[in-house]
Amino acid sequence: MTSGSGSSTTTVATMPHVGMNLEHNGKTWTIIKTLASGPFSEVFEALDAETKQHYAMKTEKEVGTIRPVLKLDVFVLRMLQNRNPIGFPRIFDAGRTDNFKYVVMQLVGPDLSKLRRSLPDKKFSLITALRVCAQTLDRIETLHDMGWLCRDIKAPNFAIGRGEQAGIVYMLDFGFARRFLDNNGNHVRPRAAAAILGTIHYAPIASHFGREQSRRDDLESWFYMCVELLVGPLPWANLDCRRQHQLICEWKQFARKGGRHQFLKDCPLEFNNILSMIDALRYYERPNYRLIAAQIEKAIDRMKLDRYAPFDWQVDNGKIIEKAAFIGDLGESHLLSLKLREAQKKKSLEGNYDSAMEIST
Ligand SMILES: Nc1ncnc2c1ncn2[C@@H]1O[C@H](COP(=O)(O)OP(=O)(O)O)[C@@H](O)[C@H]1O
Ligand SMILES: [Mg+2]
Repeated sequence: MTSGSGSSTTTVATMPHVGMNLEHNGKTWTIIKTLASGPFSEVFEALDAETKQHYAMKTEKEVGTIRPVLKLDVFVLRMLQNRNPIGFPRIFDAGRTDNFKYVVMQLVGPDLSKLRRSLPDKKFSLITALRVCAQTLDRIETLHDMGWLCRDIKAPNFAIGRGEQAGIVYMLDFGFARRFLDNNGNHVRPRAAAAILGTIHYAPIASHFGREQSRRDDLESWFYMCVELLVGPLPWANLDCRRQHQLICEWKQFARKGGRHQFLKDCPLEFNNILSMIDALRYYERPNYRLIAAQIEKAIDRMKLDRYAPFDWQVDNGKIIEKAAFIGDLGESHLLSLKLREAQKKKSLEGNYDSAMEIST
């Protein structure tokens, strides 16, 4: 990597940041925006200086990262790429410098968590939520059928496509993935103990007990995500992951017993069957994804919902999507409103923006 031209005077020692021109492996990437900044990695929007195409660039420090994940991410994305399934970002480049690793992939739209929080009631309409549940289940099935577990299923790890692909839900983030099939296609045997990982709020009960995860556990996390998409924040959403992880586990167990009715009362009743199907799965068993998907279809039919209706983010000239792009990279709502107001002003000067957006985080 050498220094970029123009506004940026980057040296080899610099970590990727907005405004930088990253020259590496014969390509120049201009980093134009931070999309997400997490404990393990940073994700930027980057421009190929030659073609002017926009990409997502995920980066990870070479030193000091508690748990390096990018290598795994790249491995899984490459493996998926060969089969070209729908709903996984395409990978275009990957490399490492002295300081960081990076991967350049297809830029997608906002993730499901940001989208949900951008909606007026902070929840999706029933039909949008149900279709998102069905699509995310399809992605998990695809990943599983390639022999991999995700082990970090949650709304921020799924995003919608951009432009014409806004009706496709993409699966992101394979940093915690684990291969569960060996080279002969046999299921690997569970280790005696496995660390709890991923995001505790969505972790399967088995993981709270330090047990190895399998396909059923990804579906258990998927189920918690579905309830959140359908109803809003989970009952244990405000508990502290570190100090109260025991209590979070107890909540999940309670949701199977005395608390089941309360937990599922605002979900279509088919979700009661889906939870039973998931809880009945054995460690080595391949879930019957189609039977679960059929329950979602049944709910859509029973409630006479229009399965061809546009998604919630497709009905308002892209305002929800625009708002979602500001959520997350700014924690405070007044900052968010300032930024949005600026964006609105700029847009109305351009003459194609009609009304103000509701501000909330
Ligand atoms: N290809 C992409 N296009 C657009 N945004 C992305 C892309 N990949 C990731 N993101 C955004 O960055 C966030 C973090 O990326 P992720 O791969 O989940 O990494 P982490 O390991 O930090 O969770 C995602 O939740 C999403 O909002
Ligand atoms: Mg993630």
